[in-house]
Amino acid sequence: MRILGIESSCDETGVGLYDTERGLLAHRVHSQIALHAEYGGVVPELASRDHVRRVVPLVRETLAAAGCEASQLDGVGYTAGPGLAGALLVGAAFAEAYAFGLGIPALPVHHLEGHLLSPLLSADPPQFPFVALLVSGGHTQLMRVSAVGAYDLLGETVDDAAGEAFDKTAKLIGLDYPGGPALARLAGEGVAGRFKLPRPMLHSGDLQFSFSGLKTAVLTATKQANWQASQRADLAAEFQEAVTDVLASKAIAALKQTGLRTLVVAGGVGANRRLRERLNEMAERRKFRVHYPELEFCSDNGAMIALAAGLRFAQGEKGSREGRFAVRPRWPLNELRPPIVAA
Ligand code: KG4
Ligand code: ZN
Repeated sequence: MRILGIESSCDETGVGLYDTERGLLAHRVHSQIALHAEYGGVVPELASRDHVRRVVPLVRETLAAAGCEASQLDGVGYTAGPGLAGALLVGAAFAEAYAFGLGIPALPVHHLEGHLLSPLLSADPPQFPFVALLVSGGHTQLMRVSAVGAYDLLGETVDDAAGEAFDKTAKLIGLDYPGGPALARLAGEGVAGRFKLPRPMLHSGDLQFSFSGLKTAVLTATKQANWQASQRADLAAEFQEAVTDVLASKAIAALKQTGLRTLVVAGGVGANRRLRERLNEMAERRKFRVHYPELEFCSDNGAMIALAAGLRFAQGEKGSREGRFAVRPRWPLNELRPPIVAA
């Protein structure tokens, strides 16, 4: 089956084409970073309008890159949530109309399911069951993943998400949007440990996270009388170390609690080099396996949505052919169920 995937939940328009036998055939992403940069963050209305402009040309490009005609498609998957309502509506409206016009089924996909399954696009995919550490701009969660759609929440953040903490802290120390990657780059030039930041909830004995206090601790450090802008890199390095310490330690605790030996890291923060370094070290020492999506599939993309839809269609999910849709800006991942197989 050939499945087209459409992603438009935030500030990337993504289109992917996934073949359930041959794997990913092509994908294209258009990032809106330049569009939002002058506002210092994502402006939802501008995001929606840009998705409108980009989605059709990206679909054409993706199909052309794979040498595939629209008439050869068997289904369309699209991100129906969580995300920005207006941005989601663009992808949903396009996907449902396109599928309806082609007489093929459309399937709403949970954005985080896309992230969670994205390591399956790599050459050495993880085997179920595994523990997933989902670290994006909006979510920080540990899940037990038993199969497609079988996700048990083990723990999550009680306040800011890890990516959000990166972004807010970057802003505090004067870095431009998008702050997370910029902060990570600056951290590479500094030395952790010269500042002392807390490791929130490191010893809480559960799998919950909290990152908002860290941002306040960074603010406090920059308010000290002896603070100098030249110390920014050291502060960034310590911040990154603190987040990484907590994420790595809770991920290991989740492996212990579930008795599993495979960890999957997904979402934008999964691109962080220091986090990968720490987890790789720990994996070697403690004899577990850790999988990451390819870097191009860490941030938002249509390939992971095509994949998630493709796996669901392949397992018998029918989708809908009515062209009707609703988006879910808020949509807890643990409400998902394995594919619904018609009798
Ligand atoms: O998964 P994603 O692209 O979008 C969401 O679904 O949220 O994640 C974006 C988040 C942003 O908060 C961004 O700052 C963060 O991932 N991020 C990073 C890095 N690259 C992206 N955070 C830390 N280090 C990075 N290298
Ligand atoms: Zn995302």
